[in-house]
Amino acid sequence: MKVETVNRRFLFVCTTERPPEERPACGAKGMDVLLALRAYLDRTDAWSEIEVVPCGCLGCCEEGAVVLDPARGTMWTGVGPADADALLGRVLAFSPEDGWTSTT
Ligand code: FES
Repeated sequence: MKVETVNRRFLFVCTTERPPEERPACGAKGMDVLLALRAYLDRTDAWSEIEVVPCGCLGCCEEGAVVLDPARGTMWTGVGPADADALLGRVLAFSPEDGWTSTT
């Protein structure tokens, strides 16, 4: 096993798709949020600080789209593209040295 230090953080956005006959999934809502978050990073040139990546189900399927910031131990539900700027502003303002308690 090899261990590497990563000097940026990661924000996970659920983009899980399911057939309509199954339980709800973030799907296209998650992808819209992912694109809005990435557009914010393009505008602010903050890619060196944080990477926004798609991920699988985070367990809040009925409340999508769902975004997870593991460094803060924070999960947002019901996120839409219009929330992207405020959400990333909060995430980027947080320093891991601030601890695990969120004040969102
Ligand atoms: S499908 Fe997105 S949280 Fe489960």
